[in-house]
Amino acid sequence: MKRIGILTSGGDAPGMNAAIRAVTRTALANDIEVFGIHYGFAGLVAGDIFQMTSETVADKINRGGTFLYSARFPEFAEEATQLKGIEQLKKHGIDALVVIGGDGSYHGALRLTEHGYNAIGLPGSIDNDIPYTDYTIGFDTACNTAMDAIDKIRDTATSHQRVFVVNVMGRECGDIALHVGVATGADAIVVPEEPYDIKEIAENLKQGFANGKKHGLVVLAEGVMDADKFKDELLKYGDFDARANVLGHMQRGGSPTTRDRVLASKMGAYAVQLLLDGKGGLAVGIENNKLSSHNMLDLFDAKHHGDYSLYSLNKDLAK
Ligand code: F6P
Repeated sequence: MKRIGILTSGGDAPGMNAAIRAVTRTALANDIEVFGIHYGFAGLVAGDIFQMTSETVADKINRGGTFLYSARFPEFAEEATQLKGIEQLKKHGIDALVVIGGDGSYHGALRLTEHGYNAIGLPGSIDNDIPYTDYTIGFDTACNTAMDAIDKIRDTATSHQRVFVVNVMGRECGDIALHVGVATGADAIVVPEEPYDIKEIAENLKQGFANGKKHGLVVLAEGVMDADKFKDELLKYGDFDARANVLGHMQRGGSPTTRDRVLASKMGAYAVQLLLDGKGGLAVGIENNKLSSHNMLDLFDAKHHGDYSLYSLNKDLAK
């Protein structure tokens, strides 16, 4: 293996730059040339490819977003488009690829392995929804960003004795809501993976005010329902003042936390090691604090399991 390519794809996540840096520096240290690909699989097909040096990744570890840029590119599901991507890899003499992204990006990576290119996937996503990894790159930063925002919302909620329903990202996965809900002392956490009863939540919030609480907080995972709709449902059973707030894309930005930088660095170096061992078609993870790799195909049949003990813990602590 003489040359590897690297791209980021799908929703960006803080820590992607740290992962690109780790891949690049580890590869260069092993006499492998590194080629950056802009705009994910779209850039691959368009041939937006450039050679990277150690300098290219200097001053990047602390930056949010991805300096290789990202794109959602469903067109890569078509074989003709894949073949155009392969043509570009051949043209640049790239033997293997590291793909940093989520589920959709792994599909793209797998297609390349089917065409004979070793590809390794790194879990870059704030959602923490990828199987066979306890944490994805970006999840910790997104949780901290959401937590900081909710701490601010809590100030105004208390001043006005209001209930806030705060919608956090995560697609169909409730991990951000679970972690941030516990960290912000939410009265209720609502996630797609657990049943909930809006009437019961409203009753608990009313009871909280009756007990002297000065605000109410519901952390709602986006995969459940729209925050305004949830707030309106809640008000059918509650006599309190309520507002809905959607945190949105701010959760994807910002300088990565220590945890995300370290995770990204470990995973990036490990990805290159796997390629050096001649392996491909693998997705890197961290399980019980140990780096792991699984066949990408296995991921598509598996489901990520979050720490659902946080749900009951929060119920106990919110009383
Ligand atoms: O997958 C990351 C994520 O931020 C999800 O949490 C969210 O549902 C989605 O991407 C938003 O996608 P877009 O950036 O295309 O609006």
